[in-house]
Formats: sequence, structure tokens, C-alpha cells
Amino acid sequence: MQHLMSPLDLSVEELDKLLTLANDIEHNPKKYAHACEGKKLATCFYEPSTRTRLSFESAMLSLGGSVLGFSSADSSSASKGESVSDTIRVISCYADICAMRHPKEGAPLVASQRSRIPVINAGDGGHQHPTQTLTDLLTIRSLKGRLDNLTIGLCGDLKFGRTVHSLIHALIRYPHIRFVLISPEELRVPSYIREDVLAKNNIPFREVERLEDAMGELDILYMTRVQRERFFNEDDYVRMKDFYILNRKKMSLAKEDMIVMHPLPRVNEISVEVDDDPRAAYFKQAQYGVYVRMALILTLLEVNVC
Ligand code: CP
Repeated sequence: MQHLMSPLDLSVEELDKLLTLANDIEHNPKKYAHACEGKKLATCFYEPSTRTRLSFESAMLSLGGSVLGFSSADSSSASKGESVSDTIRVISCYADICAMRHPKEGAPLVASQRSRIPVINAGDGGHQHPTQTLTDLLTIRSLKGRLDNLTIGLCGDLKFGRTVHSLIHALIRYPHIRFVLISPEELRVPSYIREDVLAKNNIPFREVERLEDAMGELDILYMTRVQRERFFNEDDYVRMKDFYILNRKKMSLAKEDMIVMHPLPRVNEISVEVDDDPRAAYFKQAQYGVYVRMALILTLLEVNVC
């Protein structure tokens, strides 16, 4: 039985197969419409979510399966003190596969060690968000035609943004990847990513504070929200929250074929005036999230569709 805790749980070859399956699902949805009939997905979300939870549910429904679950710790027996280990043992009696989001880093991993069904990490604290990474990789491969030879600008809250940490881990496995890390001093990527992941693997990167200093060289601009829920101090959040606002003027500095991505939700970091720019890819990205989660459910449940 296979779980998904990190994007690195999949080899580059397995990832390639998964993305190819997702593209086939995109173009031939009817072929997969009954693939999971009789199967159930549990979504156990101890933290708020719109995209991840609903795209998982949409994915399972589009495969002909059913869904059950809870959308907050308050509406589950976690509020009475139940551990994730006990919860997953019970969920294993009710469902065939589980997607779990939890504010504590490592909680889905603990669940997977007690589970009788595949567990998918749907985001654990500031740590990892592997299905967002799968979504991002599918978006990049579909819109840019490749996952190598890219200069990627990661902008915003690079300290707490788990989607950024997962994406860096995943992309360094491809040749000729270069990063521009765009953040205020206080929200720089953690030193373990800078030193143990980027520097140790000889991945070229530079750090800048101003978005304007990076725009012209990027193939992809990946914007992120300042993670209010991870700040200890509201004043620090207020000071940081509007540090970057991508607008038409800044977009005029970018390449014609650069794409703008964002895991969403956005707050103010991308002005709505950018939404009509053909380079804005963030809503397409949300759609790719359904195809890739369909592919992941099929893969972990070992369902083959001919
Ligand atoms: N991208 C993402 O994880 O969004 P949600 O928090 O709405 O699931």
C-alpha cells in the first residue's frame, strides 16, 4: 500500500506517468467516469480549505466514487481529544482512501503509520503540500511543455509557504532549473532549504527583495500569500501582507510567454487587473488540480483503466 506524504515519495518516472495519466483524464474524462465506482474517499481536514478539499471531492465524484469526511477539527471528535492515530483507524473502516490536512507538521505521516488505507498529505503545517506540487508540475508541464530549462521566481512568503518548499524539492530533480527567491528579509526561505536543498545540490539561485529586479528573466512567476495563520504576532503580519502586489505595470516587465502561478487563495498579492492577462495561469492551475488528484486516486487505489 502506498501513501503520499511528500512529492519525493514518487520517483521522476512515477511522476511522469502520473502527469501523463492526468493529461489523458483531462482529454478523455468519460473513459474514467466509472473507474472508482463503489470506492469511498474520506477528506479529514483539521484546517480550512477550499481548493484542496473540494478538488479531491470533485476528483472522486468524477471517477464515479463517493466522498465523506469533515472540514474542521471542531466538527470532528478531535475537539474531544481524539488522536489522529485513532481517527485514521476508524476512518479505515469507513473509506478506501483518505486525504488529510492538519496544522501539525507530520500529523498525516503519523496517521499513515496506523492506517489500513492509503493516506494523502493534503498539507501539514508549514511543511509540505504534495498534491499542490503535483498540481503545479502538471500546470507547468502542460503550459510550458517541459519541466526542465526553466527560471522560476518564487515570490512572497517563502518562510511559511509550504507550497514553495514542496515545489523546490520537486523541481530540483530536473536539469537546468534556476530559482530567483523574491521575499522580504523576514520571509526568506528557511536556511535548511537554502543550504541543504539548493546549495548542496548545486542548484543556481539568487535572492532579491524587489519583484521588479527579477521580472524580466523569469519563465514562471509563482506568487504566494503571506500566511497569516502561521504568524505569532498580528503586527508583523500587517506589516508584511502587502509587501508585493503584482499589477499590470509590473507585468509589462515580464517575458511575453512567462506564466503567473499562485496556489490560491490570493489576498492582495495579485491585483485583479492581472486576471485578464493571457499569462495569468492561476485559475487554470486550480482546474489542473482536479485532473492530477483523479490520477493520484487511481494510482494509489491501483485502479487501471484501459
Ligand atoms: N491551494 C490550496 O491549498 O488552497 P486551499 O487552502 O483552499 O485548499
